[in-house]
Amino acid sequence: TVLVVDFGAQYAQLIARRVRELSVFSEIVPNRITADEIAERAPAAIILSGGPASVHVEGAPSLDPAIYDLGIPMLGICYGAQLIAQQLGGVVGRGMAGEYGRTVLERTGDSLILPDDAPGAHECWMSHFDGITVLPDGFVGTATSPGAPVAVLENDERKIYGVQFHPEVVHSPFGMQAMARFLHERAGIASDWAMASVIEEQVALIREQVGDERVICALSGGVDSSVAAALVHQAIGHQLTCIYVDTGLMRKNESAQVVETYGRNMGLELIHVDASEQFFAALAGVTEPEAKRKAIGEQFIRVFEKHTGGLRDAKFLVQGTLYPDLIESGGTDGTASVIKSHHNVGGLPDDMELELIEPLRDLFKDEVRALGTELGLPDEMVWRQPFPGPGLGVRIIGEVTPERVALLQEADAIVREELKNAGLEREIWQSYAALLADVRSVGVMGDERTYGNPVVIRAVTSEDAMTADWARIPYETLEVMSQRIINEVDGVNRVVYDITSKPPGTIEWE
Ligand code: XMP
Repeated sequence: TVLVVDFGAQYAQLIARRVRELSVFSEIVPNRITADEIAERAPAAIILSGGPASVHVEGAPSLDPAIYDLGIPMLGICYGAQLIAQQLGGVVGRGMAGEYGRTVLERTGDSLILPDDAPGAHECWMSHFDGITVLPDGFVGTATSPGAPVAVLENDERKIYGVQFHPEVVHSPFGMQAMARFLHERAGIASDWAMASVIEEQVALIREQVGDERVICALSGGVDSSVAAALVHQAIGHQLTCIYVDTGLMRKNESAQVVETYGRNMGLELIHVDASEQFFAALAGVTEPEAKRKAIGEQFIRVFEKHTGGLRDAKFLVQGTLYPDLIESGGTDGTASVIKSHHNVGGLPDDMELELIEPLRDLFKDEVRALGTELGLPDEMVWRQPFPGPGLGVRIIGEVTPERVALLQEADAIVREELKNAGLEREIWQSYAALLADVRSVGVMGDERTYGNPVVIRAVTSEDAMTADWARIPYETLEVMSQRIINEVDGVNRVVYDITSKPPGTIEWE
């Protein structure tokens, strides 16, 4: 394991991901971690992340100095490098010129960190205000940049290194090679962490946790719950029962696909509950978005409860919690109990007292996808877009009826098909059609006047759904979508493209 010490900002997560891309397992730890705690975990290397602070500010995050004496190979990045310099007796100059963005790094000596095939002067990405001016004893400087007298410092005897630039970002073309050199050559770590080993390890852990008890899982068809269920199934087979609640608000053919993939092909014990009538009844006359969500949520719990009735002896519940969920809720320091409440199936009967199984809690989203593929799940499942729990219910603006859902499913399927035909599906975070059920506009088709509903095409790019931008889909693709929707979907005579980013818009319309 490589421990990434978090000094703030988003860098620690990115570093941890990069280390894993080099097939080395990594975990993020808070900077208040003590030398004893680190010694106990016996990591193969430690990386200190960058951060927004200045080492000169009072109360700036620091590192337990005893950690430097543990003999564990260390790499400091940006703030991490400055901290090494300062704590080991060098000098960090305050508020120098600073460098932000693309910068030229110039070698000044033989480096054991910079890759041999990187030219003497090469580009890297910097973001700093302070800079190291005097090296600590025992260190050599091996590179400089216009704003950083010491841009790389190395002490090979103690196996402590620092880089002022950010090797983890794509704008540092030799960054990954530098990280690889540190991990493999200086710290002697092999690249042996792979999805196959994750499966093996998790299967053993799940078997141990579960024993011969029963486990239940609410399968939504989404990536996280599906991969979690597949993994648990691999571990304990028929001790797992999954419940798939068909709300009638899924995309075209999705429910059939879920049942086919998991029930028939994978042999997962799957209770498929078609509760659509019940959901439509609850939605009759409801138009306000939050009221829709509430109605759908309530029905979901009722259905789930009813169909787990015969599984009262279940002891465990599978959840698709991911590593970023834990990081965001401050759970990376081993306080395993911190779990985001929105991941729980709320309202489960208390007397079930279910213990959680969260086999994906160490993984990032892209790793979950790789794991799903390794487990044999088809691409359509592994690359499925995020989909809101209330489904098409919040994509029909107005009252939700079975007829409107059927109409929207057709329009939505066309959007997805054409995006796929254009080869854009993996670049796009979410894409869908929404139906403006309460709006009608005039059109002309053949010689006839029409008076129908508009369909909105929405497609966004995003990293994490917190912010999003409308996708620049080629006009040609939009044109095919528009023509097909109007020709093939009865009752729709107008198509518009939503060009609102988030903020100020949201990804969904309701
Ligand atoms: P917004 O529309 O707020 O959505 O930009 C952000 C992300 O959350 C999804 N979303 C939901 N997911 N229940 C869910 O499980 C909901 O009620 C819900 N509303 C929005 C949305 O699809 C996007 O990925």
